Amino acid sequence: MKNPYESELKALKRAGRYRERHIRDDTLMDAASNDYLGLAHNKELHLRACETLSLYSDHAPKASMLVNGYHPIHAAFESALCEANGFEAGIVMGSGFNANIGLIEALVRKGDVLLMDEEYHASGVAGARMCEGSVQFFPHNDSIALKELLKQAHGKRTIIAVEGIYSMGGDLVPREIIELAIEHESILILDEAHSSGVIGESLMGILDHYEIVPTPLMIKMGTLGKAYGSFGAYVLSSTHISEYLLNRAKNVIYATAPSLYDTALAHHALDYIQTHTQRLRDQIKRRKTIVRETLGIESAGLIIPIEIGDNREVMRLQEWLKNEMGIHVGAIRQPTVKKAILRLIARLDIDEVLLRQACERLTQIWVK
Ligand SMILES: Cc1ncc(COP(=O)(O)O)c(C=O)c1O
Repeated sequence: MKNPYESELKALKRAGRYRERHIRDDTLMDAASNDYLGLAHNKELHLRACETLSLYSDHAPKASMLVNGYHPIHAAFESALCEANGFEAGIVMGSGFNANIGLIEALVRKGDVLLMDEEYHASGVAGARMCEGSVQFFPHNDSIALKELLKQAHGKRTIIAVEGIYSMGGDLVPREIIELAIEHESILILDEAHSSGVIGESLMGILDHYEIVPTPLMIKMGTLGKAYGSFGAYVLSSTHISEYLLNRAKNVIYATAPSLYDTALAHHALDYIQTHTQRLRDQIKRRKTIVRETLGIESAGLIIPIEIGDNREVMRLQEWLKNEMGIHVGAIRQPTVKKAILRLIARLDIDEVLLRQACERLTQIWVK
């Protein structure tokens, strides 16, 4: 039978944008995944999660949270997250992608204005397309442009959506953007997929980093599939916003509650981060120093973007790095980024000597 999407696939191949998945090769040094702290390899955490699960008669969520799927494991993790991050209420959700769609679709109602950073994650952009309010994208991290838009925004509510650390550029949201949201009494959505567990005195993310106390209009979305070495997401907010989300967010109401194993695992990861904060912070700092000394890149977190520009060239370099150096780094092409990049993740699992060697070799192929 004829492939109904043949022309689309051909066009992707012509543009060097065709994607394929490959089963990962564990013999390579993993400098591609978002497992920033290496917790996805920590067997102790896995065993603790299994022990926690074995305390209960059930091991699956079975239903939506609003029906009969809300489990003590979910509730305990939500309380721990609130305590650690200084928020009143929390809801665990299926994944970051799902949380962004659910959140934005529910929060931005008719008559509201959503102001979203142009580099916000694809899941937020999808949520923005689904919402009933008016949506405007502002230039990346541009607080002056945002200020102008805020002056002109006369919606019922104004909602600003930004990331703590941007997933591809690896840069931080500037403090002024958070301050503008506070000053204008706007609702602020902070996607902390890449900042939670990586920055801040307590490794709790962007508010912790800037030492800003959460206000009742702030919403923190964090993912569990990155620094927490698990799978899923959470949304922290005021009790009012949480109450509203439980009543309006379709990803919460119409979906089976998050996996109990993943939630228990993430809870043990949170405990681990809280008990080993200083050691983890030192390890993060040392990796950032290696990257600065070798590649000359000053990174906010552990995402190191190396601009290559050409879609095909970035794929060729990725293969070369695998074959010649045994390193797997991400190759990110358009339309995910404007110009193709090698995305190196300086994970804590990577030995420091190896990381330095890898960065030094990279300088030989990277023409800045
Ligand atoms: C900034 C950002 N938000 C949300 C997500 C989606 O999170 P998840 O992978 O848990 O679905 C990602 C994932 O890559 C991300 O980078």
